[in-house]
Amino acid sequence: MNELINRINSSASLDELDKIRVELFGKKGLITSEFAKLKSIPADEKKAFADELNKRRDVFNEAILAKKTELDFIELKARMKAESIDVTLFDESRDIGALHPVMSTMDNIIEYFLAQNFSIETGPLIEDDFHNFEALNLPKYHPARDMQDTFYINDKRLLRTHTSPVQIRTMENSKPPIRMICPGAVFRRDMDLTHTPMFHQVEGLVVDDGNGVSFANLKHILEDFLRYMFGDVKVRFRPSFFPFTEPSTEVDISCIFCKGKGCRVCSHTGWLEVLGSGEVDPNVFKHVGYKNVSGYAFGLGVERFAMLLYGVPDLRSLFEGDLRLLEQFK
Ligand code: DAH
Repeated sequence: MNELINRINSSASLDELDKIRVELFGKKGLITSEFAKLKSIPADEKKAFADELNKRRDVFNEAILAKKTELDFIELKARMKAESIDVTLFDESRDIGALHPVMSTMDNIIEYFLAQNFSIETGPLIEDDFHNFEALNLPKYHPARDMQDTFYINDKRLLRTHTSPVQIRTMENSKPPIRMICPGAVFRRDMDLTHTPMFHQVEGLVVDDGNGVSFANLKHILEDFLRYMFGDVKVRFRPSFFPFTEPSTEVDISCIFCKGKGCRVCSHTGWLEVLGSGEVDPNVFKHVGYKNVSGYAFGLGVERFAMLLYGVPDLRSLFEGDLRLLEQFK
C-alpha cells in the first residue's frame, strides 16, 4: 500500500496518475477485485473486511485527488505560459499607415525653412478680395487676375487662390523684421494632368528695415533650398511677372530626370520650373502701411515638388485615395 501511495505522489503526469488509478479502480483493478471478494467472505468477517477496504479506497482516492489537483495546476501554468502573448512585442505583420507623399514633401520643405529661422504662419481658406487680390497689387479688372481661375463664394468672398494673402495678413499683424513661410491648401478652377481644384502651396516672405534684404539674399536661400530638396541641380533665375513682386523671377532647376539633356518631363528644355519669386512690389508695402523696408517673397506648389521627387506622372492620382498608389510611399 505504501509503495502505491509513493507512486501516486511521485507521478510526473496526469497520464501516469491515471494509469495508477486504473490499476486500483479499473475493472481488474486491485481495489475492485478486493471488493469482488466480499461475496465469498463469511458473514461474520464481512463487516471488518468491508470497513478496512473502504478505508483503503478512501486513502487511495484522496491521494489521487490531491495529486490530480496538483498536476492540473502545473499543466494549467504550463499552458498559460505557452499560450501567453507579449503585448509589448512589435507586430511586424501589421499594416501601419504612411504619410501622404504631398504631406511628407510639405514636411520636408517646412523643415528646411524652420532650420533657417523662418516662422510658420497660417491664414483662412476663405479669403476676401482685398487680401487675395487687391493688397497684392491685383486691382479689380486687372488682367492678371485671369492667371488664377477663382472659386467665388459671393462678390467679396472667395476660396484663396494662393497662399500669398498670408503675406498681407502677417504684415498687417506684425512689424519687420519678418521671416515667414505659410504652407497650406489653395483652390482654383482647374483640372487636368498637372492641375487639381485643390492643391498646396508654400509661401515665403522676408522683410527688413531699409535696404536690409536684397535680391542676392533671395537667390542664395532659394538655391540652397532647391539643392536641399533635389540634390545636385543647377538653378536658373528667369525674368517673369507677378503683380506682387518687382522684379519678378521664375526659378528653374536642371531636369532631375535627364540631368538637363532634355526629355519628355522637361519638354526637351533640360529645365523644370519649380518656383515663383521676386522682390516685394512697393505697392504691396503701401497696402499694409510699411515704409522704408525691403523684402523678397516666393511661392511654390507642393504637389509639383512631390510629382518630381516621387516621379508621379498624373497629379490627380495623388487625390484618388487609391491604396495601390499610396502603399508605394511607405
Ligand atoms: N502666388 C503665386 C501663384 O500662386 C506664386 C508666387 C509667385 C508667390 C511669386 C510669391 C511670389 O510670393 O513672389 O502662382
